Amino acid sequence: MHIKDVKSKDIIKFIETFAPPELAIEGDNIGLQVGGNLNRDIEKIGIALDPSLSVVKKAKNKGVDFLFTHHPILKDPIRTFTGVMYEKLKILMENEIILYSAHTNLDICKNGLNDALADLYHLKDVKYLYDNGLGRLGIFNGTFEDILNITKEYITKNPTVVNAEIVNNKNNNSKNNNKKDLKVAILSGYGLSQKSINYVSKFADVYISGDLTHHSKILAEELGLCVIDGGHYGTEVYGLKLFKKYIEDYLNVELISLDF
Ligand SMILES: [Fe+2]
Repeated sequence: MHIKDVKSKDIIKFIETFAPPELAIEGDNIGLQVGGNLNRDIEKIGIALDPSLSVVKKAKNKGVDFLFTHHPILKDPIRTFTGVMYEKLKILMENEIILYSAHTNLDICKNGLNDALADLYHLKDVKYLYDNGLGRLGIFNGTFEDILNITKEYITKNPTVVNAEIVNNKNNNSKNNNKKDLKVAILSGYGLSQKSINYVSKFADVYISGDLTHHSKILAEELGLCVIDGGHYGTEVYGLKLFKKYIEDYLNVELISLDF
């Protein structure tokens, strides 16, 4: 694969047009993560959910010189560059691999990771779940079983489900062949915090997201909110695959998937 006359700054320009940096939530560590010369020609572009050590090693082995990841390399402040972080930076720098991330701006933007999920479930009357643009809330016309089947086919084979019977009962009480308009909330990645479950329980019938913990599961049970945990990975990689396609179509080149 060789991309004719494509430079890092051209790729970044496309990403930032698609997922404008100003959409990111405050404090999110987006944009250029590691890199120097953005004028160098790029031959191979890699894409991954996480800039993990194994992804960075694969990027090196496959000759990637521009690596896009959804999650940034640093979330919490660190004070030293030792251990795994040292190893990652060493590989990236020695091989002059540019690392660039679009995180919450890619979750929020049009056709981003949350819109991808709203489209997957064919939600109607879609609104933002949160005022900052994160998540989506819409109407699903169908049964709970239909929602579960879509989840199993496209998000994860084994979703964790809480309070399915509550939604099933609603379906059974409706006249229309078990079909009913269900209010469905979706949030890609980590959405199953106690705070978010508490908020969503006030207006949604079903909440699809990732990273359910023991305590958030108990809370969902207590509040009677039906939750589907499709996993952080599953709920983000679905839209990331579509984003990969957008970049490929734009640059007319194939991207190398490194962790999905
Ligand atoms: Fe995430």
